[in-house]
Amino acid sequence: MRHKLIAGNWKMHGACADNAALVEALLAAERLSGVDYAVLVPAPYLAQMQTLLTGSSVAWGGQDVSEETKGAFTGEVAASMLREFGCRYTIVGHSERRQRHGESDSLVAAKARTALAYQLTPIVCLGESLAQRESGETAMVVRQQLAAVIETLGLEGLARIVLAYEPIWAIGTGRSATPEQAQEVHALLRHQVAAESQMVGDNLQILYGGSVKAANAVELMTLPDVDGALVGGASLVAQEFLAIGRAAAGAR
Ligand code: 13P
Repeated sequence: MRHKLIAGNWKMHGACADNAALVEALLAAERLSGVDYAVLVPAPYLAQMQTLLTGSSVAWGGQDVSEETKGAFTGEVAASMLREFGCRYTIVGHSERRQRHGESDSLVAAKARTALAYQLTPIVCLGESLAQRESGETAMVVRQQLAAVIETLGLEGLARIVLAYEPIWAIGTGRSATPEQAQEVHALLRHQVAAESQMVGDNLQILYGGSVKAANAVELMTLPDVDGALVGGASLVAQEFLAIGRAAAGAR
């Protein structure tokens, strides 16, 4: 059975004292069987996470990684650096980066490939805009985004990633996808991977992201093809984040 992953994307939030309090609350919570937690933090706080979380069951990671391995790339963070600070994960292809930094499907796939080369698990985000959903293009858009990942990583790489479906219109809006909408896209993505390999499709963790909070976690985390959540705003509030984890544990 697939484990659930509850991953907190802190985005550009945090301060040393606040981070410490948040992480302390996560560490004090009961461990739930079949549910893993991770926090994805701004790069300057990776060292703090390494100090606070080493030896615990909470993993940590970055929010982006360069497709390059080193060199004259001002402002970018290399996969080897994430590894040096103990990261297990890194997000790639978050819609905020696709939109603000013009990251293409092929660049996102290249970032995932570099992450894998450094034994990081990329959490590859994809999802449609509101305009795309309203014009009936959701399936086409997410299939195309996933196809670039499949083409670049091949089956071997595909078996080592986490996928996150994040409809852009649901991010930070308080308006999550309905359970039907989420399940439909998750099933479609899993089928697309299963067409390459049934086993890889069956084992692939597909997270849902977009306004997940305690109040809607049960209905979303109990869906058959939803294997956890990528949580933004609610991941900054320990009790909310932990409640999402409990919803996921109950769903198993
Ligand atoms: P919110 O949970 O704040 O909607 O953000 C979702 C997200 O973008 C996680 O990566």
